[in-house]
Amino acid sequence: MDIVPDRNTPVPQLIVQWAYTGIRLALSCAGVTVGFVTFFEVLIVLLRPDIVDKDNRARIVPTVELLDQYDFVVIGAGSAGAVLANRLTENKNWTILLLEAGGDERVISDLPVMTYNLVNTDMDWKFKTESSSAYCKGMVDNQCHWTRGKSLGGSSSLNYMLYVRGNRRDYDNWRDSGNPGWGYDDVLPYFKKAENMTIPGLRESPYHGTSGPLTVENPRYEHPMQGYFSNAMSEMGYHEVDVNGKTQTGFNRPQTTTRNGLRCSTSKAYLRSTADRRNLHISTNSLVHKILIDKTTKTAYGVEFVRENVRHIVRAKKEVILSAGAIESPKLLMLSGIGPKDHLEEVGIKVIHDSPGVGQNLQDHIMIGGLTFLIDAPYNPSTTTLADVTDFVVKREGHLYGTGFCEILAFVNTR
Ligand SMILES: Cc1cc2nc3c(=O)[nH]c(=O)nc-3n(C[C@H](O)[C@H](O)[C@H](O)COP(=O)(O)OP(=O)(O)OC[C@H]3O[C@@H](n4cnc5c(N)ncnc54)[C@H](O)[C@@H]3O)c2cc1C
Ligand SMILES: *[C@@H]1O[C@H](CO)[C@@H](O)[C@H](O)[C@H]1NC(C)=O
Ligand SMILES: *[C@@H]1O[C@H](CO)[C@@H](O)[C@H](O)[C@H]1NC(C)=O
Repeated sequence: MDIVPDRNTPVPQLIVQWAYTGIRLALSCAGVTVGFVTFFEVLIVLLRPDIVDKDNRARIVPTVELLDQYDFVVIGAGSAGAVLANRLTENKNWTILLLEAGGDERVISDLPVMTYNLVNTDMDWKFKTESSSAYCKGMVDNQCHWTRGKSLGGSSSLNYMLYVRGNRRDYDNWRDSGNPGWGYDDVLPYFKKAENMTIPGLRESPYHGTSGPLTVENPRYEHPMQGYFSNAMSEMGYHEVDVNGKTQTGFNRPQTTTRNGLRCSTSKAYLRSTADRRNLHISTNSLVHKILIDKTTKTAYGVEFVRENVRHIVRAKKEVILSAGAIESPKLLMLSGIGPKDHLEEVGIKVIHDSPGVGQNLQDHIMIGGLTFLIDAPYNPSTTTLADVTDFVVKREGHLYGTGFCEILAFVNTR
């Protein structure tokens, strides 16, 4: 992004400009070369206390306060783990340890438009796909980034925030394949319980909830392109629908997991509100290496993790809950002796339980990047001016509140 200073500068903008120049001078004197993101981060820290949210941030337990034993040990503080830790600690009789490999979220992760800037940072596991002749062929060494969140909030702290539930038939298929309790009518009450729908007109819908911790909105900033997309969809015969309502086919402005225009990660929704719960210990920068399992009873009784280069073992009186995400959960199971026998033996892991399905059947949606075409009314979204930064830090509006990737969301019939 380029910073383009403006000539007729109003006062709030001057403040931002001075802060910007000051920070740049200070840093360049210190011999540090830093990009726009760092400057922006410092500006946010200085001028947006609502994003810094100092008083509500999740309380991180110091190593000396860690206990030897908890009722529940939850591995991974992502979309699933943050919710579990919150819900379990509602019962004051239980103690819970939440272990997270990453740290707290960076302030820039609050900005939808900064999502791309989080790839390949400390908030990402920086996974890459294997070199292949079948996919990722336009990429260096035929490898794609496989972004996964590594911080409180997990992938919800760097995902695209689109709030889209599965199709009714997806859940009904799960139920009908032998999973009672997973049909759409069974899961709908939980979607509603989680949600605080703020979009006018949807708050009264039987498909939405308004008293949950996860805020759902439309993006605060409407891009000038939005109208063109809507018109095109209408011309194709599609209607505006609630994609999380009765039928999915159609289009609309996206529903996003944002609050006041900023990312509402599961950490913001479920962990920041637990700061005063003494029965929850959140331990960041804690990489779990193994789940400890009793060989005879095949019961998990604890975990082994490393924090600040020191190995720790904690025991779980009731349960160990594995919520480390689609890549790391099966990997941890295998490291702990649960997985395909032949493969585990091949790499020298003692088999506790032969389970051929572990690590199989990974599913993901494909995405294309780089599709570029010219339109009649050119608009260049890639230049961020100082005025945009001012709008964001001072007026709390403007295109830095945009998603930067989705103006209209549509489900179309391809058959
Ligand atoms: C770039 C991107 C964009 C996306 N966009 C959307 C979207 O717009 N809408 C949508 O609905 N979904 C989206 N998703 C998917 C969605 O974010 C994930 O499906 C969801 O967050 C997964 O939740 P989870 O709890 O299974 O895992 P995660 O949220 O990934 O949490 C796993 C956590 O476990 C931690 N962990 C892993 N291993 C260990 C270990 N050994 N020790 C300790 N901690 C560990 C990780 O650091 C992480 O914090 C997107 C995902 C990505 C990556
Ligand atoms: C907590 O324990 C007390 C005493 O054993 C019991 O009376 C109470 O019902 C328990 N609370 C919950 C939520 O289980
Ligand atoms: C839901 O969001 C609205 C609008 O931001 C807010 O006023 C209300 O307090 C929220 N409700 C809950 C339960 O957090």
